[in-house]
Amino acid sequence: MKIFVTGGAGYIGSAATAHFLQAGHQVIVYDSLVKGHRAAVPADATFIEADLSDSAALGAAFAAHQPDAVAHFAAFIEAGESMRDPGAFFQNNVANSVNLLNTIMAHNVERIVLS
Ligand SMILES: NC(=O)c1ccc[n+]([C@@H]2O[C@H](COP(=O)([O-])OP(=O)(O)OC[C@H]3O[C@@H](n4cnc5c(N)ncnc54)[C@H](O)[C@@H]3O)[C@@H](O)[C@H]2O)c1
Repeated sequence: MKIFVTGGAGYIGSAATAHFLQAGHQVIVYDSLVKGHRAAVPADATFIEADLSDSAALGAAFAAHQPDAVAHFAAFIEAGESMRDPGAFFQNNVANSVNLLNTIMAHNVERIVLS
């Protein structure tokens, strides 16, 4: 299966990517590196450096790779920061996830895991 992993340069997403690869799947990692690290992305994964807010880049990535499934790990996670700047967290964790869901529907991907 071809799995599109958002946030695959982060803590959970990079570990999930490694497991997917080990299980024989192909993985496309989509991560802006706003928090993650390029070095955390396993070498066998395809890496796209782009943000979920960038609808054009997201659509182009889906069109190019035609994933069978999406595992969504891209988000902000720090509780303290979310209290100081809730708007940024709603924008990234809610609005950008809606952007991803719209892209998923536009490309008829029927399998999704939301972390
Ligand atoms: N860390 C945990 O113990 C844990 C446990 C359960 C669930 N989760 C969930 O898993 C998800 C990932 O958590 P994590 O601990 O791996 O965080 P993390 O910060 O290590 O990873 C998040 C990744 O998402 C990327 N990212 C963030 N916003 C992006 C955007 N707009 N476009 C593209 N990439 C973007 C970051 O660059 C980073 O690589 C979160 O939703 C979190 O709530 C985490």
